[in-house]
Amino acid sequence: MTRDGKAQLTWLGHSAFKLVTPSGKSLLIDPWIMDNPACPENLKVLGALDAMLITHGHLDHIGDAVTIGKKTGCAAVAIFETAQWLATKGVDDTRGMNKGGSQDVADVRVTMVSADHSCGILDGDRIVYGGEAAGYVIELSDGFTIYHAGDTNVFGDMALIGELYRPDVALLPIGGLFTMGPREAAKAIELLGVKQVVPMHHGTFPALQGTPKALAELTRHMDVDVHELAPGERFVSSRPKGPR
Ligand code: NI
Ligand code: MN
Repeated sequence: MTRDGKAQLTWLGHSAFKLVTPSGKSLLIDPWIMDNPACPENLKVLGALDAMLITHGHLDHIGDAVTIGKKTGCAAVAIFETAQWLATKGVDDTRGMNKGGSQDVADVRVTMVSADHSCGILDGDRIVYGGEAAGYVIELSDGFTIYHAGDTNVFGDMALIGELYRPDVALLPIGGLFTMGPREAAKAIELLGVKQVVPMHHGTFPALQGTPKALAELTRHMDVDVHELAPGERFVSSRPKGPR
């Protein structure tokens, strides 16, 4: 993914990504895999895993976190309340945190940032409080920086995320209805000042109507590459990392 090709970021459909770092650590972001209709069958076998990053408690994000956490013993990163909930479900290695905080997980530096969304966790027949929805800034050992926005609307403080962390690529929801659509995502790109974007949270269900094509149209006048991936495809960086 980075210029040396040593890191790999694969879209598993919806908001799920698998990240393999330059040193070979494996991380999952928003591990909704088994029931994810967009995830290719051959990618549902996950193998060894070092960590999962969970943006919020909605089923299409936290999906398989309990099963995977129990099975692999991997570290589970989530906002404090959601991490506590995972612990009550038998996930041993929870790494709770909150917005503005950073921690080292596997061999990446993870910072939790804001998202404008909700975070109830469906637990049996009730919805329990899961804290708040969040996004993550993930810095690899070579400095390449990924921003996974989770589920969110555009918000003005995305400018702060851009200014503070200077992500090389932003993974942004564009499907609409439950998150921002292309119109709002175009504004998000402007606020972030990011030059590479991978659209996510689109196409999974008919209700998610925002398309990468619409986003590309709306950002045509901007200095940004919209990388439209099919589920199972890897992001390949089109730009050298470094100051922008
Ligand atoms: Ni959600
Ligand atoms: Mn969602």
